[in-house]
Amino acid sequence: MLKNNNPRRTTRNSKEPPTNYSTGIISMNRQGILSRYGQLLNLPPYSTPVTLLEGDTPLVPMPRLVEELGGGFELFVKYEGLNPTGSFKDRGMTAAISEAAGRGAKTVICASTGNTAASAAAFAARGGLRAIVLIPEGKVAAGKLAGAVAHGAQVIQIQGSFDDALSLVVEITQKHPIALVNSLNPYRLEGQKTAAFEICDCLGSAPDWLCLPVGNAGNITAYWLGFRQYHDLKNTGLPRLLGVQATGAAPLVLGHPVDKPETLATAIRIGRPARGEQALQAAEQSQGRIIAVSDPQILAMQRCLAAEGLWVEPASAAGLAGLVSELQSGKINLKGQRVVVVCTGHGLKDPDIITRNLPAPTVLPAELSALEDAILSR
Ligand code: F0G
Repeated sequence: MLKNNNPRRTTRNSKEPPTNYSTGIISMNRQGILSRYGQLLNLPPYSTPVTLLEGDTPLVPMPRLVEELGGGFELFVKYEGLNPTGSFKDRGMTAAISEAAGRGAKTVICASTGNTAASAAAFAARGGLRAIVLIPEGKVAAGKLAGAVAHGAQVIQIQGSFDDALSLVVEITQKHPIALVNSLNPYRLEGQKTAAFEICDCLGSAPDWLCLPVGNAGNITAYWLGFRQYHDLKNTGLPRLLGVQATGAAPLVLGHPVDKPETLATAIRIGRPARGEQALQAAEQSQGRIIAVSDPQILAMQRCLAAEGLWVEPASAAGLAGLVSELQSGKINLKGQRVVVVCTGHGLKDPDIITRNLPAPTVLPAELSALEDAILSR
C-alpha cells in the first residue's frame, strides 16, 4: 500500500491553502487519486507520489438527453476530459510514474494513439523522468501530439499501427532498463480503477449500466476491478458493462485481431487489444457486452454531447453511441435504470475533426449594419 501523503490531513484547520512541498501539492479541493484512494491501490510501498491532482472529475446529469431518448431512466456523464492532460489516462499515469520514480527508473516509454503519450509526457516531466512515446504516423490528433511535445517527450512516429508500436515498446523494455507505462503495466489499472470508486462515492452505489469506449481494453478492465473491489468493501453493487468499439476496429466483437484497424475515432484505432481477454471476461461477468458502432454514429453522438455543453473527442462519444444504438434497436431496457457513460477525453484534443466537418465562421467588415444583417436575418 502507498503511504498516504494527504496534505489536507495536516492542514485541515488552517486558514492557509493546504500545502505540502515535498509532494508539490497545493490545492484547496483536489488532492489527486493517490492521496484520496492510495490505501485501496496495490502499489509498492517504495512508490513516490508524482501527481498533477488528477481525478475527482464531475458526474454530469443529462436529463434533457434522457427525455430525447424516451425518458424513464437516469443518465450521467463521467467527464474524464477534465483531468489535467485532458483524458482519463492521468489516473493510471500518476500510479505508473509514481511506481517507476520510486524504484529509481530514469526513463519511461509507451506506445500510444495520443492520450497516453500526452499523459506519460506530463507525469514524467513532473517527476523529472525522461519520456519516450511511440505513435502511429499521421494518426494522432493534434492536441495530443502537441501535449507530448510540449512536455518535452521524445516523440517517435512509427510507420505502422498502434499495435506495431506496442510490440516495439514491449520488446525494448525487455532488453533495456526503461519502464513501460502502457496499460500492460499493472499499476496503470490500479490508478484507473479509482474512476469506479468516484462514481460509487458520488451516487452512493454502482450504476446499473456503465458504458465506455474500448481500445486497448485497459480502462474497461480497470473499471471492473474497481467496481468489484468497492463492492467487496462497501457493498456498492456491480454495474453491467457496455464496452464500445468502432466497427473498423472491433477485434473484440469480431473475435479475431484486425490487421488494419480504421476509424475516425483515432484513440481507439486498435486491432490487437493488449487486455482484450480481460475485457471480454469483465463484460461477461458483469452480464454486459462489447459491441461496435460506426463512425457516423460516433460523430453524431459527439455533436449531441456538444449540444449539451460537453465537447469530447470522437472516441469519447463511443460509449453514448453504443448506448443509444442498443436503446434504439430495442436490445436494452433502461426503464428505471441508472446509467453512467464515460467520456474519456476532451474535445480540444482533436480540434481538426470539428473544423474539417463544420462550416467555417462568417467573415464580416467591422460594421454594425453588417453585424445586424448577419444575426437578425436568422
Ligand atoms: N478513449 C480515449 C480518449 C482514449 O484515448 C482511449 C485509449 C480509449 C478511450 C480506450 O481506452 O485503451 O483503455 O480501452 N487510448 C490509448 C492511448 C490507446 O494510447 O492513448 P483503452
